[in-house]
Amino acid sequence: MTQDIYPFPLKRIGIIGGGQLGKMMAMEAKKMGFYIAILDPTPGCPASQFADIQLMGGFYDKAQIRLLVEQSDVTTYDIEHIDTEILLELEAEGHSIHPSPKVLATIQDKLIQKEVLSAGGVPVPRFKRLDSVNTKQFADFGYPCVQKTRKGGYDGRGVYVVKNAEGAEKAMQAVSMIEEFVDFEMEIAVLAARSTDGEIRCHPVVEMLFDARANICDMVIAPARIPAEVEEEARRVAMKAIKVLGGVGIFGVELFVTRDGKILLNEIAPRPHNSGHFTIEACETSQFEQHIRAITGLPLGSTRLLSPAVMLNLLGEPGFNGNQLIEGLEAIHRIDGLTLHLYGKLTTIPFRKMGHLTVLDADAEKALQKCYQAKEIFKIKGEESL
Ligand SMILES: Nc1ncnc2c1ncn2[C@@H]1O[C@H](COP(=O)(O)OP(=O)(O)OP(=O)(O)O)[C@@H](O)[C@H]1O
Ligand SMILES: [Mg+2]
Repeated sequence: MTQDIYPFPLKRIGIIGGGQLGKMMAMEAKKMGFYIAILDPTPGCPASQFADIQLMGGFYDKAQIRLLVEQSDVTTYDIEHIDTEILLELEAEGHSIHPSPKVLATIQDKLIQKEVLSAGGVPVPRFKRLDSVNTKQFADFGYPCVQKTRKGGYDGRGVYVVKNAEGAEKAMQAVSMIEEFVDFEMEIAVLAARSTDGEIRCHPVVEMLFDARANICDMVIAPARIPAEVEEEARRVAMKAIKVLGGVGIFGVELFVTRDGKILLNEIAPRPHNSGHFTIEACETSQFEQHIRAITGLPLGSTRLLSPAVMLNLLGEPGFNGNQLIEGLEAIHRIDGLTLHLYGKLTTIPFRKMGHLTVLDADAEKALQKCYQAKEIFKIKGEESL
């Protein structure tokens, strides 16, 4: 056993990506006594508010990635679209990078991710590799199905539902895969963290509601309104998936609950996840603290839910660009149990994630009503009308 004695600051953590997830990681890490360096191309990016230093550079800038990793005791990331080649090289040189670049490379490619999980016995929708995009491949697979680009998709970009032959004609000309269209009852998510000594802990299972206009996650309800056995199965599937993938840190596991109560895994993010923001106010250990604990070799924290909660994503109002003009700030602060998070992005664009708010209420339905109320009155507009 190693001695439980540390110098201060405890460790230097490098974070690739300085968006809202990087910011909230950095906030927790600073609170806990770590030194933070971030790599991001945007001056004044959200995480820079809590970083000791920012390196300027993109996520495929091998030289800057090397510089960050070499000056950090451990490196992590808040985004999965990163050059894995350089990360694999640095890991092989003995640098500590969590989750491992090997896991990141598997997850980055939605097809490889599904192949690895499915081979490991994790339930996933039926899927097929698309070697070329032609209507016959869709017809052979069967309609309705969903075409997904293998790499680079996010917030629903790179996902295309193909209902029939006519839809197949308009398929994306991209390196992609197809899977069966799951006529799900509900979309749920679980945050699962693994520590350096292999312990896995899950946060409560949550329900995701989507904004129909942009097919983007809009609200998250904790706990999900599902029977105990479905919740148990969701945790089991999430833990199994993390075991199959390997790696240290927190993972956002997105799942479908089918109409007959079965769980199918949709996708995994190797980082804190939008569906886990409620944990900041509602759980004994937030997803961000859990991630920092995991990657720095500390024991995982308790994931106990302190109160039911609903999180609302604050998306840039459609029709506006530019410097933010925020409406309803005073009004939402009259809602009991509400906490506002504004990420500090310099400009808004339609449906950009600008912040979120969380409402705690002993009665989850009341928390949901308060969120609907907040959604009505709070708008992030921009100085330029489109
Ligand atoms: N096989 C499927 N059947 C039905 N709906 C699906 C399927 N796959 C994806 N979807 C819908 O499309 C959404 C986005 O898909 P997915 O999560 O794969 O893409 P993404 O762009 O990587 O996601 P994110 O919004 O998490 O960044 C899902 O949340 C779900 O609503
Ligand atoms: Mg998704």
